[in-house]
Amino acid sequence: MDEYRQIFENNKAWVQSKLANDEHFFSKLASDQKPHFLYIGCSDSRVPANVIMGLDEGEVFVHRNIANLVVATDNNINAVIQYAVEYLEIKHIIVCGHYGCGGVKAALHPTDMGQLNSWLQGLRDVYRIHQQELDGISDAHHKFDRLVELNVIEQCVNLVKIDHVQRKWYQTGFPQLHAWVYDLHKGLLKELDIDLGAYFSSIRSIYDLKIGEE
Ligand code: CO
Repeated sequence: MDEYRQIFENNKAWVQSKLANDEHFFSKLASDQKPHFLYIGCSDSRVPANVIMGLDEGEVFVHRNIANLVVATDNNINAVIQYAVEYLEIKHIIVCGHYGCGGVKAALHPTDMGQLNSWLQGLRDVYRIHQQELDGISDAHHKFDRLVELNVIEQCVNLVKIDHVQRKWYQTGFPQLHAWVYDLHKGLLKELDIDLGAYFSSIRSIYDLKIGEE
C-alpha cells in the first residue's frame, strides 16, 4: 500500500482504538469544544501541538504558520485569535517557537525566496529590533537560538497589540500569554525566562488602545 492510502488505514485503526477505550468518545467530542489553550506554533512537521503538550482531542485550539508569526494584517490568524478569545474564552495563549526553525534561519541569511520574502520580513524586523544583542553573539548557533527566542517574545508583543486580546484582558484578566520554545533534540518544552508583564508595561504607552477605559 502506498503511503497516501495508508493514512486511511491509520485513521480506521485510530477510530477503533478510541472506541475501544470509550464507546462515546466521538459523540462526546462532537457535542462541543471548550479548550483552555490557544497554541500558535510553527508549521514544522516535527512540532505537533497536541503531541508535545500531551493534550487530547478538544483540549487545544491550534494555529500554525511558518515560524509562528502573529501578523497584524493576516486575516487567518486574526480570525483564529478573535474566535479563541471572544467565543471559546480560552485562558492561555501560547506562542511556541522551536530551535532549528528553518524560517528563522532563512531570516538570518537574506536571499530572494520569492513569495516567502514578505513573510520572512517579520522575522527580519525582530532581528532589527534586537540587532545589538544578536550581533554581539559570536557563536552562530547561539545567535540562531537567540533569534528563535526573541521571535517568540516579539510575537507575544504582537498579541498584546490586538484589540480583542486587550478587551478580554481588561474584562477578565485573561488570556494570559506565554512564550515557549521547543527543543527538537531533546523533545522538551521550555518556558522562556522573561517577565512578559514587565516587558508589556514598558511598551504600554505605545500600544494600549485604552479599551480598559471604555
Ligand atoms: Co519552524
